[in-house]
Amino acid sequence: MTGNDTAAGILGVGIIGAGPVTQAIHLPALARLGDLFAVRHIMDADLAVAESVASRVGATHGSNVAALLADPEVDVVAICSPHQFHAEQVIAACRAGKKAVLCEKPFAMDAAEAEQISAVSKETGVPIIVGAMHTFDPGWLAAEANWGELPETAHTIRSSIVLPPNARFEDFATEVITRPATDSPDYTDPEVIRNALQGGIMGLAIHDLPLVRRFVPDFQDLEILQAHHVRPFGYVVSLRAGNRTVELRAVMSSTWKPEWTFEAISDEADLRVDFTPSYVQAGSAVARITRGGASSSHGPFGHNGYEGEWRELARLARGTAEPLSTENLINDLVFALAIAEASAAAATAEPAGAGA
Ligand SMILES: NC(=O)c1ccc[n+]([C@@H]2O[C@H](COP(=O)([O-])OP(=O)(O)OC[C@H]3O[C@@H](n4cnc5c(N)ncnc54)[C@H](O)[C@@H]3O)[C@@H](O)[C@H]2O)c1
Repeated sequence: MTGNDTAAGILGVGIIGAGPVTQAIHLPALARLGDLFAVRHIMDADLAVAESVASRVGATHGSNVAALLADPEVDVVAICSPHQFHAEQVIAACRAGKKAVLCEKPFAMDAAEAEQISAVSKETGVPIIVGAMHTFDPGWLAAEANWGELPETAHTIRSSIVLPPNARFEDFATEVITRPATDSPDYTDPEVIRNALQGGIMGLAIHDLPLVRRFVPDFQDLEILQAHHVRPFGYVVSLRAGNRTVELRAVMSSTWKPEWTFEAISDEADLRVDFTPSYVQAGSAVARITRGGASSSHGPFGHNGYEGEWRELARLARGTAEPLSTENLINDLVFALAIAEASAAAATAEPAGAGA
């Protein structure tokens, strides 16, 4: 935190959507940032949820987006509703002239929506950040400052995630009052596999795809080598983009212990970043860079990417940081959509020689 952050006064926060992510991630992060933020207004489509969550932080509540955006106590807005509402709500927050907007991932459902958001952000001058928390993790930022030529030389990039179901972490963090019912999918239906794989990439891999893209700037010729859905929730995807191989793996089950790693490997050097699992407010990632037989370790630092994204939002709202390029956000989304679509198609393609 800088001296400016404190000197400029407390920023009022309005939160749209008060489900598990608001309750278990953002409110605990904001509770530690009381010198920067105060939660002023909580809105949810379900008024009872808004009322209950707002009562925990002494905020106004409601079920109306326009009322939250018209609230003069609200300086910055966090969009934590289901993804299909993100674009419309980000645009409304920009048009309301708020100081900055944090939108949970994914911030749009397709490239056209992302471009529309980018245009409105530019026109109104309201900066946006997307809740891809690893990009704000001090362990990742330290890796970036020390990895040298690795983005140009890496040939293999790997993201591996082993997590228990979200509910387990949500319950560690808080008492979640809303949780959607789960059903038993029919895994013999290709449409179920297609949706599950797309959901895995756009819901979970998307956290690390902005990191992967740092090492794969050119992804026009993306080729899927293999793509499988892993039950009940996960994926194994290998792809090539130019001369890079990218491996994305995730499994979410009742296994222990959680592991979330990112690796980039070249002939001369390699990077390994161990992130703390989502929901867990347990300090930053630790990065290790090995080059010519010597290793350097970076972290753990005192806070994680969730706090990092809120600190960045405070700087943006006060004009003490340069707005992030919305082109970059669009490219991150286009990259994720391309992988999700191509993986789902590959996983459900008829094997060669099958059929009549
Ligand atoms: N950054 C992370 O680690 C992380 C982890 C999980 C989920 N997420 C993302 O966070 C977002 C919210 O996830 P969640 O698990 O809390 O979701 P959820 O869908 O379970 O809950 C969202 C809440 O939004 C409310 N809602 C529904 N329609 C609304 C509308 N039109 N306007 C306002 N509120 C509305 C619901 O009543 C619910 O309380 C999603 O975009 C998800 O992808 C982020």
